[in-house]
Amino acid sequence: MSLDTYRTAVCDRTNSALSQSIQALPNHAEKLKQAMEYALLIGGKKMRPFLLHATGKMLGVSESDLDCPATAVEAIHAYSLIHDDLPAMDDDDLRRGHATCHIQFDEATAILAGDALQTLAFEILCQHPLSSTNDAKRIQLVNILSKASGYLGMCGGQAMDLAATDKRISQAQLEALHNKKTGALLSACVEMAIVLAKDVSQDSRQTLLKYAQIIGLAFQVQDDILDVIGDSEVLGKPQGSDQEQNKSTYPAMLGLEQAQSYLDDLHKQALQALHTLPYNTQILAEFTNFVIHRAY
Ligand code: IPE
Ligand code: IPE
Ligand code: MG
Ligand code: MG
Ligand code: MG
Repeated sequence: MSLDTYRTAVCDRTNSALSQSIQALPNHAEKLKQAMEYALLIGGKKMRPFLLHATGKMLGVSESDLDCPATAVEAIHAYSLIHDDLPAMDDDDLRRGHATCHIQFDEATAILAGDALQTLAFEILCQHPLSSTNDAKRIQLVNILSKASGYLGMCGGQAMDLAATDKRISQAQLEALHNKKTGALLSACVEMAIVLAKDVSQDSRQTLLKYAQIIGLAFQVQDDILDVIGDSEVLGKPQGSDQEQNKSTYPAMLGLEQAQSYLDDLHKQALQALHTLPYNTQILAEFTNFVIHRAY
């Protein structure tokens, strides 16, 4: 199966599970419900569900079991984007080629949509059907996703991002920031797939977690590069937003060329990690190439 076909299949499964979760909600706060749906379903590459499914498939986990954490992590991601775009944070008005949530609705609704999507993620982890062997692992999934989303992960990274705005920080600090704000959720995808798999050796686990860390960092380095060389039409978000706000990014720190060669290094490291695994890593290798070369 080609990468595109597989990616579309994962995207469709995830969108359909997300849509069902929203449809199941009663209508006592319709505007909030619409804002949640807007942030979940209008566009988005669904890269985190893709990484989770690709890893799980490689490890022999059933697609229906993978839907549970894949849908949950996408709900966290959608919430993180709503809040990231708010005036108090990046103050952006375009996301996925459409008005950002607070522009389309209003700021209060956007804040609440983020809050409600965050809790929806954990509702999904607790309630989405899982096979009887994996049903007992829900608490491990909750543990992984909550750590990756909160102070230790995405939220902590977003706070470091705000603190590093208009400031010069070291490359080690920038790496730590990126690992948390973006890497943590991508790593959680790999970790949750491992939890649902049977008989993953300690060595393979370590290698997969290392791969996840590299690809999580690479994902944000390319995001930073696209902010400089991308096209708003293709990106679906405003090019130049980081520069305008004087954000700490890899191109700002190293210059564009060095940032690109750093990304090449990460690309090689990620593929090397995959080479040492005793599995068919073709889809993950293609995912890696996609992350590095993507234009949006
Ligand atoms: C954007 O993530 C925010 C980052 C963490 C870099 P994506 O590039 O995955 O955004 P969507 O979901 O495809 O819109
Ligand atoms: C956002 O990083 C990471 C999140 C946790 C949402 P960015 O601020 O660079 O993401 P974009 O460029 O707005 O998508
Ligand atoms: Mg941001
Ligand atoms: Mg942003
Ligand atoms: Mg960005």
